[in-house]
Amino acid sequence: MTQADTIITGGKLVSPEGIVEAAIAIAGGRITRIGPAEEMPPAAEHIDASGLHVLPGAIDVHVHFREPGFSHKETWTSATQAAAVGGVTTVFDMPNTNPPTSTVDALRWKLDNAGRQAIVDFGIYGNIAPDNLAELRPMAEAGAVSFKLYMGSENPLVPCPPDGAILDAFALLAELGLRCTVHTENTPILEWRGARLRAAGRTDAAAHLEQHADVAAAEAVSRVGIFAEWTGCKIHIAHENSRYSLPHIRFAKARGVDMTVETCPHYLLLTTDDGARLGENFLRVKPPVREPGHSGPLFDALLDGTIDILSTDHAPHLPAEKRRASIWDCAPGFPGVETSMVLMLTEVSRGRMTLSDYVRMASAKPAKAFGLYPRKGVLAEGADADIVLVDMEKRGTIRAENLHSIGNATPFEGFAVQGMPVRTLVRGRTVALDGRPTGTPGWGRNVVA
Ligand code: NCD
Ligand code: ZN
Repeated sequence: MTQADTIITGGKLVSPEGIVEAAIAIAGGRITRIGPAEEMPPAAEHIDASGLHVLPGAIDVHVHFREPGFSHKETWTSATQAAAVGGVTTVFDMPNTNPPTSTVDALRWKLDNAGRQAIVDFGIYGNIAPDNLAELRPMAEAGAVSFKLYMGSENPLVPCPPDGAILDAFALLAELGLRCTVHTENTPILEWRGARLRAAGRTDAAAHLEQHADVAAAEAVSRVGIFAEWTGCKIHIAHENSRYSLPHIRFAKARGVDMTVETCPHYLLLTTDDGARLGENFLRVKPPVREPGHSGPLFDALLDGTIDILSTDHAPHLPAEKRRASIWDCAPGFPGVETSMVLMLTEVSRGRMTLSDYVRMASAKPAKAFGLYPRKGVLAEGADADIVLVDMEKRGTIRAENLHSIGNATPFEGFAVQGMPVRTLVRGRTVALDGRPTGTPGWGRNVVA
């Protein structure tokens, strides 16, 4: 029996199919053996996981790690420390930085920057801009994990391309075999309503919801499904937030469109009622957290597979940036990578879902959707040893001041949680232990390389 670097014994291994007690041997960053403890090879390091569950690391396909351009909100060091503590072993970073990731040069800068700082593995999205069709193939060749399309955007850094350009980009991505992640809102509706509401002098939080009406979301989901069907492009719907989109998702899937869909903890666990607790403007996120009546159907859709994936849309801002007087000046989004797993494990503790459900939506399905499976997203012989030890008895309280993100303005402040990651391994190395990051910057690798 060849020597292992690490063995993990006594834990209960979780897969989408069920839970089994088994030991794991790790060598060279990979899982080399899963079986009874007495069959494990000798190892330099022994981790006792008695009383713990052993999960594949979470794969978060939607994060904003803010460099270059916004490092006062987050850096790859702070963000990947937060991810490691939160049980996230792979992240895909979004392109709405400054400069945006719309060119090969911008992509190379990001890959280099992430490679120097990250303690978890990563992918970098290229952006589909109105005018960068010629950059898409070179970006894919330079190591972009996938592409992002801002179909709903008011951000001049990442404007929405015209529909004709979207079709051309989709045809090319179909050829490249890459899935396109899409922010699905109808930009003309956002622009029209934004202008009308501003002209009327509205600065209150409800104006944000009126601007980002359900119809803007449902229309874009429906349209992008048609574009995907016509071009053969695989698509991934980002941050699903409206129950009115669900029939359009089901229709596209029934027609055989290769569409995957994600939602995030804030759409599952919050409603506009939380504005009273947080300060109404604080709740601003794009797309919005909606009125009561959406989170339940979204949760059900995540369990029945209409929604495939749990991501976070980790979008950190400083508390002051989220507390401005006018809703239009209030920064949209929340940090998520450190709180997502504890929040969802708490839902497991409450009996709303199972650990197997969680592993399916947080690890297996994202790995499958983006071509990482079975290297990642599963505890199996030959897979990367991206492993999270979870203590389902451990309780805690979410506090912004304890988060590792610079922009730590969480909407889950004060939430009591049960079920917490206590140790995170990336390719066999422990990168977080008992709530503290322990990884060395530069350990994280591009999943494409
Ligand atoms: C995102 C951010 O801050 O980068 N915020 C958000 O509310 N999701 C930007 C965006 O995707 O619009
Ligand atoms: Zn986002």
